[in-house]
Amino acid sequence: MRALVIHGPNLNLLGTRQPEIYGAQTLGEIDRAIAARASELAIEARTVQFNGEGEIIAQIHVAPPIADVLIINPGAYTHYSHAIADAISAVGLPAIEVHLSNIFSREPFRRTSVIAPVCVGSIAGFGADSYLLALRAALFVATGK
Ligand code: DQA
Repeated sequence: MRALVIHGPNLNLLGTRQPEIYGAQTLGEIDRAIAARASELAIEARTVQFNGEGEIIAQIHVAPPIADVLIINPGAYTHYSHAIADAISAVGLPAIEVHLSNIFSREPFRRTSVIAPVCVGSIAGFGADSYLLALRAALFVATGK
């Protein structure tokens, strides 16, 4: 089982970006935790980060031959990028939406996700562990177990 984890804009700043909201771990540390959990679950995980909407869309377009499941934290694009939602629909890979913070307990604009309707499910509010929970969910999506 192959999972492609896409981190969206500003997540490269994790560690110093509002640690009271997003935690103290850097993206490198999170990616290492993802790699460790993926190996425990026998998942082949690849992680990428892009700040640009077009770069995220281009990565989604080339995902089908290299991934069985997408795990995506679209950052602020979550709240308005119909283009990313369309890309997920277009390639037809099952996708899991991830957020470090609980977007439903924050500012009103964060309570809407235009990505959620094209995903199998969403995991939000568990800090970096949201990604690790998403790996488990990806296994369930791909294998039914
Ligand atoms: C986020 C939540 C978004 O609202 C925000 O713009 C982010 C991070 C999260 O992981 O909690 O960049 O996706």
